[in-house]
Amino acid sequence: MENSDKKIILAAEKIIHAKHLVAFTGAGISVESGIPPFRGAEGLWSKYDPQVLDLGYFHQYPLASWNVIKEIFYDFFGTARPNAAHDALAELEKMGLLKCVITQNIDNLHQAAGNTVVHEFHGNSHKLVCTKCKRHFELAEINLEVLPPKCVHCNSLIKPDFIFFGEGIPMQAYQASHVAAEKADVFIIIGSTGEVSPANQIPIHAKNTRATIIEVNPENSRYTHFITDIHLKGKAGEMMTKLMEQIDQKLKAKKG
Ligand code: APR
Ligand code: ZN
Repeated sequence: MENSDKKIILAAEKIIHAKHLVAFTGAGISVESGIPPFRGAEGLWSKYDPQVLDLGYFHQYPLASWNVIKEIFYDFFGTARPNAAHDALAELEKMGLLKCVITQNIDNLHQAAGNTVVHEFHGNSHKLVCTKCKRHFELAEINLEVLPPKCVHCNSLIKPDFIFFGEGIPMQAYQASHVAAEKADVFIIIGSTGEVSPANQIPIHAKNTRATIIEVNPENSRYTHFITDIHLKGKAGEMMTKLMEQIDQKLKAKKG
């Protein structure tokens, strides 16, 4: 039997017997939905200047910033649909095996797949906020054909409610993620380089509080030789599909 198959079987065993399974996702889980990662050969930051997500630049050049933000996060991301990996995490929640998803992604694909407990460490592009009166808006309420969008209440600049470089992590998501990492006895990392802090401290916190770390990534990440116990080396869609097949087989065998 292939070593990779043995790892899938081992990971499936860990998940079935987990008391508190938590998933932690990065841009890699959405690549098969057509959303490029931020880093790597085809990464967004190799095409666009990350300064559009710098808070100072955004306030100084709102139109220039919004033109790129709209192109990346609304025109391009907007059509993306959940893939097999998102569906697997939604299924694990439905089966009562997965307690929550902690995601660095802002693409709303975990919610679209059906997960209901999602801690969004970097916010969500489907929500927007007025930079002055702090009123929140749903994406459907904002006309992105007129840029930069202005608040209907105070006519101030509206920004996407995901964090820009230089902004703090949403407190509720930060705290809930740390609690979940602490409680986790099995922690599955899907599609993250582990390069961005403080998000990259969450898997380390889970490891330090004795979780078994399963990692799904076609490449090695900062986690792989540091905290990962079982590395399922492959694309999220393919690995999560194989994992779910194994979990189903084992649960059927358990039922007898
Ligand atoms: N399946 C699984 N993993 C994949 C796939 C795939 N099909 N394709 C790529 N990957 C992996 C890459 O190997 C890489 O490790 O996904 C990871 C993507 O890395 P990043 O683009 O750095 O994504 P992430 O770790 O989520 O970045 C963190 O950086 O710019 C900020 O706020 C942004 O949330 C983002 C944060
Ligand atoms: Zn306002």
